[in-house]
Amino acid sequence: MAKVAIDGIVREAQPDELLIDVLNRAGSTLPQVCYHPQLGPVQTCDTCMVEANGRLVRACATGVADGMQIATKSAKAAAAQVEAFDRILSNHLLYCTVCDNNNGNCTVHNTTKLLAIEHQKIPFRSKPYQVDNTNPFYRYDPDQCILCGRCVEACQNVEVNETLSINWEDPNPRVLWDGGSTIGESSCVSCGHCVTVCPCNALMEKTMLGHAGFLTSLKKSALSGMIEIVKGVEPETGYGSILQVSEAEESMREHRIRKTKTVCTYCGVGCSFDVWTKDRHILKVAPEHGPANGISTCVKGKFGWGHINSEDRLTTPLIREDGKFRQASWDEALALVASKLSELKSKSGPDSMAFISSSKCTNEESYLMQKLARAVIGTNNVDNCSRYCQSPATQGLFRTVGYGGDSGSISDMEKADLVVIIGSNTAESHPVIATRVKSSHKLDGQKLIVSDLREHEMARRADLFLHPKPATDLIWINAVSRYLLDKGLANTKFLNQWVNGLEEYQKSLEPFSLEAAAQLTGLSVRTIRTVAHMIAEAKSTCILWAMGVTQHTQGSDISTAISNLLLITGNYMRPGTGAYPLRGHNNVQGASDHGAMPNMLPGYQSVDDPEVRQRFETGWKVKLPSAKGLDNHEMVEAIHAGKLKAIYLIGEEMSIVDSNANYVGDAFAKLDLFVVQDIFFSNTCRYADVVLPGAPSLEKEGTFTSTERRIQRLYQVLEPLEGCRPDWRITQEVANRLGAGWHYQHPSEIMDEIASLTPMFAGVNYERLAGYKSLQWPVAADGTDEPLLYTKRFAFSDGKARLFPVSWIGPTDQPDFQFDLHLNNGRLLEHFHEGNLTYRTEGIREKTPDTFVEVSPELAEERGIQSGTWVQLVSRYGKVRVRALVTDRVQGRELYMPMNSVESPVNRLTSSHTDPVTNTPAYKETSVHMNVLAEVGESPLPRINSRFGHPTPQNGVEVERKWKRPDYAPPGNGLVQLQTKK
Ligand code: SF4
Ligand code: SF4
Ligand code: SF4
Ligand code: FES
Repeated sequence: MAKVAIDGIVREAQPDELLIDVLNRAGSTLPQVCYHPQLGPVQTCDTCMVEANGRLVRACATGVADGMQIATKSAKAAAAQVEAFDRILSNHLLYCTVCDNNNGNCTVHNTTKLLAIEHQKIPFRSKPYQVDNTNPFYRYDPDQCILCGRCVEACQNVEVNETLSINWEDPNPRVLWDGGSTIGESSCVSCGHCVTVCPCNALMEKTMLGHAGFLTSLKKSALSGMIEIVKGVEPETGYGSILQVSEAEESMREHRIRKTKTVCTYCGVGCSFDVWTKDRHILKVAPEHGPANGISTCVKGKFGWGHINSEDRLTTPLIREDGKFRQASWDEALALVASKLSELKSKSGPDSMAFISSSKCTNEESYLMQKLARAVIGTNNVDNCSRYCQSPATQGLFRTVGYGGDSGSISDMEKADLVVIIGSNTAESHPVIATRVKSSHKLDGQKLIVSDLREHEMARRADLFLHPKPATDLIWINAVSRYLLDKGLANTKFLNQWVNGLEEYQKSLEPFSLEAAAQLTGLSVRTIRTVAHMIAEAKSTCILWAMGVTQHTQGSDISTAISNLLLITGNYMRPGTGAYPLRGHNNVQGASDHGAMPNMLPGYQSVDDPEVRQRFETGWKVKLPSAKGLDNHEMVEAIHAGKLKAIYLIGEEMSIVDSNANYVGDAFAKLDLFVVQDIFFSNTCRYADVVLPGAPSLEKEGTFTSTERRIQRLYQVLEPLEGCRPDWRITQEVANRLGAGWHYQHPSEIMDEIASLTPMFAGVNYERLAGYKSLQWPVAADGTDEPLLYTKRFAFSDGKARLFPVSWIGPTDQPDFQFDLHLNNGRLLEHFHEGNLTYRTEGIREKTPDTFVEVSPELAEERGIQSGTWVQLVSRYGKVRVRALVTDRVQGRELYMPMNSVESPVNRLTSSHTDPVTNTPAYKETSVHMNVLAEVGESPLPRINSRFGHPTPQNGVEVERKWKRPDYAPPGNGLVQLQTKK
């Protein structure tokens, strides 16, 4: 520890700490306009000047040293601070009372007060630029911009979208998008980082404007008049009394603006943030304290909340009668569901019914759904949509290391020496995880290997991009493993100490020579060898994968091969290492964790284990079925076979997200009873007999579990819309009408029950999850969690991992003469999956209005296609009509279709082939024929889509360029010791 004297009082500090952090910890009131702990030193504002050993320095850019003498309030320091802030005020009009940012957290307002500024020496000077309103979600007002550069730092080095810069050399510097485009036509992905960190009102969410303040909704002319009045009185009264008025207005706001913590409803990253609301109006999403994301979000979490107040929310139960739906009361609808389920149970037995929980719902809701199936109905026919994506990854980890979850945390991906991404378009599917990898790659020398069919953003950034032939990842992974073992580059010490099964595994690798692998994958021997050497040389490696791996007939085997490779290189058990199957939905991990699986009770406890069953039977006071139930895929087959008569499904758009959608729809049409619980009348509702209106995440309490096994609480932001009910309440009502006698008053009681029955969650309770606190399972009874798994042992009885041999079989569907093109599919940044939620946000719809099929430039030329040409894609299972987008993201005869369509869903084309181990559909093994239609429309992506922008990468805000301006001199009579950035 270093000892630092701050204004005469000695404090302890870490030797590598920034002085500003030590001062803040000591409770100092030092001004610091551009400093944000999550951005690090930006050094643009000069307000944090202190005297260190007699010299003026910026506290935000100075490391502590033992024995340092710091004066924060000396005459020299105080004068420099005021001078620096005076320059800031020359760039900003103080009209706080009529400003939507006057909410107690405006840095400019607070610093004016802190420094007791009464009059500014340098007058305000308007900048010769218009307000930019061209982004649907936020606006930039150059006149209010203090040029602190926080936004640039966030965009360049945290989000790493590299859109923003400041033209420091210009006589009138401002923030630029793509070096001078409008925001709307720039590469801005609307992630909102810049708006979140802006310390004043220069960047504001449009949902705040005219809504946050009492006087801010006035007409522009009235507002300008008021601003003029304020300016007029300032010379006489000074800022002190003007700020008093604005603070009175601000405290009135506190009574009507609610700030409630929630967890994002979209992807599995698990971003959490405060939602600011005024009545039902969502003012803004404010990320800051989330353990997974800090200040980060993507467009969906920051701005994609249009579904909450959408006019077409379901608000009343519906019953099908004579082929049409009619509105019904809750009482009637629930009575009908209960009586039909009861009737079927006695007539056809419990296994004639099945239950599908939602990975958009909470852990507590999934738990109740499987409890309803098992304890009330008496069947293990229960599943969730992890069947469609993540079950193979879970299987690969069960086989090799024991737990079916990411082996570490996002922070491990961040600190890894090497990240390997296989079959994951991370920048679009898990945007905030991608920011961490992009940032480490850009700033900290992390190496990146990407294997994918498409050259997406991560592929373009990679040090090495592999484009193997479709469905051949297992081959090159095994070839790398064999090469490492053959060449003595494996981690023998780790293998000897921690891993079983090496001999058999090594034998299984015999067919995977570099040459054979090169021939089958289309990669060169040199490329595969380079991968091997990069892994061998890296101090720590994380492998990230997603649906590009799992949605194959060998999804489980490829996942297993990945884990095997990590084991032979010793890339488990240490920070910065491990296996990261990136979970898609916000709570797809939690749905499986909490027992919505046909073979597992909560906590992955097998239904055929008598000891486990006994525990649940005692807890639930019922007899439980012991035979594995049907999974989603088997449910569809069982309906066609006449064995399954009823399904109760919550919040899944199964009729278009399951593969071979036409076949699934035909099955649903045959059901005697189909109950669908959702917040909108989805495509799946069209097949329902009863529709029950549930509540979205903002209208309920509960917990979600993210990809890093992180359990987080969401608090109720809004009352459920009249007529809707939180899903856990609905399930409880159904159960009670079937005689269950449940009495849960709050989801915390459900979690207490889960903890009492499930060793993996023994120490989970709502108190330990209060606010932004979180737990990463497994959680011991005393509340100890495991952010990094396997630090002491692997999760098998002998504590050792297991190498599990896998061989290559090949895909079920290959292009042939008739179906000559390979069709890949996946997610898109702006929309979540089919877009049932995200299309309800107007700005998202504006930027990304429709689906499309990506066609390579060479295929487009061969077939006479341009962006906007309508084509019909025909597979062995169905057809869709869609517009083409010509792009070099895809090559040759490989097509790509995002999933963002209810009208033309890609799953009309996919097959019913599955991974035999998990029954996960082989979505990625689809061959199609393309008919080019005569019609040519507009490009399916409008010019205002970020993909058409031109980013301007640079290292942060480049403050050195500001310091070189002829009119710049450090405040404090040139005594400043300038620091350069790290
Ligand atoms: S991408 Fe756009 S919204 Fe995100 S930080 Fe950059 S400029 Fe801001
Ligand atoms: S727009 Fe950017 S540079 Fe301007 S005040 Fe906001 S964060 Fe600072
Ligand atoms: S969609 Fe995912 S990355 Fe985006 S804000 Fe939500 S949790 Fe974060
Ligand atoms: S806080 Fe802005 S220069 Fe230090």
